Amino acid sequence: MSSSQPFITSSPIVAGPRRKSKFTFKHLSLLSQSSTSCPLRVVAHIDLDAFYAQCEMIRLGVAEDQPLAVQQWQGLIAVNYPARSFGLNRFIAIPEAKKLCPQLIMQHVATWREGDDKWAYRPDSSKSINTDKVSLDPYRLQSRRILAMIKETLPPAPLQKVEKASIDEVFLDLSEHVHSILLERYPELAGPPPYDDPLENLPQPPSTVLDWKADALVDLDSSQTEDDDPDWDDIVMLIGSEIVRDVRKAIREKLKYTCSAGIARNKMMAKLGSGYKKPNSQTVVRNRAVQHFLSDFKFTKIRNLGGKLGEQVVSAFGTDQLTELLTVSLDQLKAKVGDDTGTWLYGVIRGEDTSEINPRTQIKSMLSAKSFRPSINSTDQAEKWLRIFVADIYARLVEEGVVENKRRPKTVNLHHRQGGQTRSKQLPIPSGRRIDEGSLLDLAKTLLGQVIVDGRAWPCANLSLSVGGFEDGVTGNRGIGGFLVRGDEAKTVNSAQRLQNGHDSTDEEFGPRKRRKVADDPNIRRFFSKSESTGEYEDFDADSGFQTPEHNDATDPGHQQSSKPEQDDRPKEQELHQQQLETYFCKACQKSIPRIEEAEHQDWHFAKDLENEDRHQTGSDTIARPNSHSVVRSKRGGSGTMRPGRGGKPQTGQKKLAFS
Ligand code: CTP
Ligand code: CA
Ligand code: CA
Repeated sequence: MSSSQPFITSSPIVAGPRRKSKFTFKHLSLLSQSSTSCPLRVVAHIDLDAFYAQCEMIRLGVAEDQPLAVQQWQGLIAVNYPARSFGLNRFIAIPEAKKLCPQLIMQHVATWREGDDKWAYRPDSSKSINTDKVSLDPYRLQSRRILAMIKETLPPAPLQKVEKASIDEVFLDLSEHVHSILLERYPELAGPPPYDDPLENLPQPPSTVLDWKADALVDLDSSQTEDDDPDWDDIVMLIGSEIVRDVRKAIREKLKYTCSAGIARNKMMAKLGSGYKKPNSQTVVRNRAVQHFLSDFKFTKIRNLGGKLGEQVVSAFGTDQLTELLTVSLDQLKAKVGDDTGTWLYGVIRGEDTSEINPRTQIKSMLSAKSFRPSINSTDQAEKWLRIFVADIYARLVEEGVVENKRRPKTVNLHHRQGGQTRSKQLPIPSGRRIDEGSLLDLAKTLLGQVIVDGRAWPCANLSLSVGGFEDGVTGNRGIGGFLVRGDEAKTVNSAQRLQNGHDSTDEEFGPRKRRKVADDPNIRRFFSKSESTGEYEDFDADSGFQTPEHNDATDPGHQQSSKPEQDDRPKEQELHQQQLETYFCKACQKSIPRIEEAEHQDWHFAKDLENEDRHQTGSDTIARPNSHSVVRSKRGGSGTMRPGRGGKPQTGQKKLAFS
């Protein structure tokens, strides 16, 4: 069973005099294995409502109907729902926001200040852009509490499969959990199939009316009626929805947060579902409603179809309407966009997505960054920021268990931007010694020294420090055993060589070319057999962890759309409003974005694309294509086929994230 597609539109199979389910015992068994190709699969996406705003409301004890926005320097980065009812959003300038909603509470985010060993909420922070650096720690902390609550509410693994997708969202694969409940409730499913034939159809579910409680149910199209008997795919969604309701209730009652959720047969549909009705609601997209639900969307709204690929498809077929694309045959799609992409596209517009829920929650790297406007011009100034970065990163390392040696990073990297060029320097963190703030700062200063020695250090427009290559401590449990060790050795060889070679690259050098260089290196290559290479490859760059959720929190590219929590790349206050009035239209989001945010916004898309790609390539996760076996790609470029979401070449403004 390679896809669930036939189950979207086909009418129930009638077998003999007694109607049977269209699903088989085989499908039921696939459900118990959380198989991504199971047509009974149940996936949920949970997203916190106006997350940073809720964090501040709960921290400050603000009444739930009080409009509140979270401020960063002279911009808003989160707006709660009461404030949204006044027409406020993240792109509104503060004076305008105050005019529209005079009773608005604006709370500035916490900041780091040099010399402090902790971030703090400060009354003067909005005026301290030149001395402070934003900290998202308070939100990370809340994010962790919520994640822990979700995990606590669900039964333990293997029934529990949770993927943290960003600071305020998770995916759950509920298949196995639902399967166990299904067998309890319907013991007739538990027995062996008739004639021991797994391809036998399941009995029809009892014809009771399904009670969807207060869930939003996505409508069916006009050719369908609700009289069609429910089948097991409806029942599993109902059970999934009950589980999600319990999770949301626990978050609400114990932690006070509201969130919205989507329940559907895959990640793509679940994510679209969670955004369908906000705040504080959950939406079920039953299989029978998938196509109708999608028909409301332009296909350019779908993940990976917002960018160049989407444009290409629009111009090839003269439409951006998903429904119209449905009439295009698979062969025609392949002819226009290539075999792999065509096959992928054919499935996606039919609501298909076989990507896995990846329970990895471990951090791969941490980054602390600051953009300077005006640029900085001296070692003194730069070292002041290095101290702040180190304090920020060290505090997060402590949370990560570095003191107990549970996990530790292996490398430290400094990225330096001058003019259009980003240079990066890397040093290994000496093993066998405890990592502390002082030693990290020394490493960071050494790296800065290397940049300065090379010349062209000033004026500097952006500095960032990252640690990466996290590994479990000596006492830690290394699940992957020898394979990982070999990969790690390879990594050490790699970083040692980079150092020997006086490793210093402009951002251009960090793309596919470098990766090939690594692959070509016989010292590295001998650690890998051909088939092993993909997984370990991705970990090669110590700081490639732009893709990890936790790392996203650090710089969170996703948050740079309206303003940038850790990259304060903003003009002076007086210029700001004027510049905010100038907008450009982002085709990917179908939104107007202030012109000054353009570079960051594109960085964000870039980082998101990487994140998506990374997920698809980690472990056994497959890219969201029906025939995932046909595409093996290196993370940045490499394959000859066109890749969804991104052309081969980075777009303007993407460079600065390409330094890994
Ligand atoms: N965020 C940000 N800048 C952005 C997007 C998001 O700073 N361009 C922050 C917001 O402050 C937000 C959190 O990241 O609280 C999560 O983002 P998102 O889920 O997109 O938005 P929410 O504010 O949570 O709103 P919604 O209820 O629509 O999910
Ligand atoms: Ca949210
Ligand atoms: Ca979100």
